[in-house]
Amino acid sequence: MAKEPVRVLVTGAAGQIGYALVPMIARGVMLGADQPVILHMLDIPPAAEALNGVKMELVDAAFPLLKGVVATTDVVEACTGVNIAIMVGGFPRKEGMERKDVMSKNVSIYKSQASALEQHASPNCKVLVVANPANTNALILKEFAPSIPAQNITCLTRLDHNRALGQISERLNVQVCDVKNVIIWGNHSSTQYPDVNHATVKTPSGEKPVRELVKDDGWLNGEFITTVQQRGAAIIKARKLSSALSAASAACDHIRDWVLGTPEGTWVSMGVYSDGSYNVPAGLIYSFPVTCCNGEWTIVQGLAIDEFSRKKLDLTGAELSEEKELAYSCLS
Ligand code: NAD
Ligand code: LMR
Repeated sequence: MAKEPVRVLVTGAAGQIGYALVPMIARGVMLGADQPVILHMLDIPPAAEALNGVKMELVDAAFPLLKGVVATTDVVEACTGVNIAIMVGGFPRKEGMERKDVMSKNVSIYKSQASALEQHASPNCKVLVVANPANTNALILKEFAPSIPAQNITCLTRLDHNRALGQISERLNVQVCDVKNVIIWGNHSSTQYPDVNHATVKTPSGEKPVRELVKDDGWLNGEFITTVQQRGAAIIKARKLSSALSAASAACDHIRDWVLGTPEGTWVSMGVYSDGSYNVPAGLIYSFPVTCCNGEWTIVQGLAIDEFSRKKLDLTGAELSEEKELAYSCLS
């Protein structure tokens, strides 16, 4: 029997990520090839005509799984009955700007959209915040939507996770699908800590630690980390626009694994509400290694954290605590 359609909200749907993301969702990349979807697309009035153009293209693409499209500038209409909300709407970072620069513009959007989601989305709606500063926007959304369970509000660090996989795969000249269990700790910013201490590569003679295969701790503790941390800025420099196809693809990966589960023996990175695991301050949205099963994520526990890593976990946590303060000062 055919499944009931799932309603997926994409805010900022007329923007670059939105334009890459909505066809992926309509094709089943996010929720599976047997899962019908109804797309809810929200943007602001100056983008209404472009948004309608995206809707026209979705009709023209004749996606078999797409059972309806709501394209609107009305936040209540956009949020009504949605099961999944991908929050992309906001102002992107331009060349030379730090994420903090986009803070004041974006946190107020997340405060007001929190109320709309709380009142009108389906109970148990899963929320993924993509717009920067992603962790802090997600935290503001959580704080101003107190009836949405905290575990339902997450932010995107899967792009950073995938970037780390990509760098290791290029360095070792192995298939990216054979590399697993990197970790992105902390903020989706240049303080994030891409950690390969538990990462492995599938080889003909079994799984081998990435450190053993790379044989260059200097590179792993230096250039590898900065390349992943600075990749967003490098894309902006090259494209004069922030990453879009990789961000959209990572958003699909994040939701797919959250809803359908992570493969046995594999974890992924998600920005989730900290419970104090690994001595990370509780009450931040912080990226941890997680496994997912039955629509719920669980932080992977018990991983050894050496002194080098400890400092990096603390540094990115301190930045998130500062961002939280700054966000509240922007809202007051
Ligand atoms: P974009 O400017 O192309 O699109 C953003 C869209 O949001 C625009 O169409 C704009 O009209 C709309 N918008 C603005 N205010 C809105 C509101 N209040 N409600 C609904 N829509 C609104 O930007 P983009 O390149 O698509 O990037 C979107 C966001 O994602 C940016 O904040 C960017 O920095 C961030 N980003 C995050 C990651 C990540 O890994 N977390 C990666 C790439 C980009
Ligand atoms: C990215 O990581 O590509 C985005 O977050 C863009 C940015 O602001 O760095």
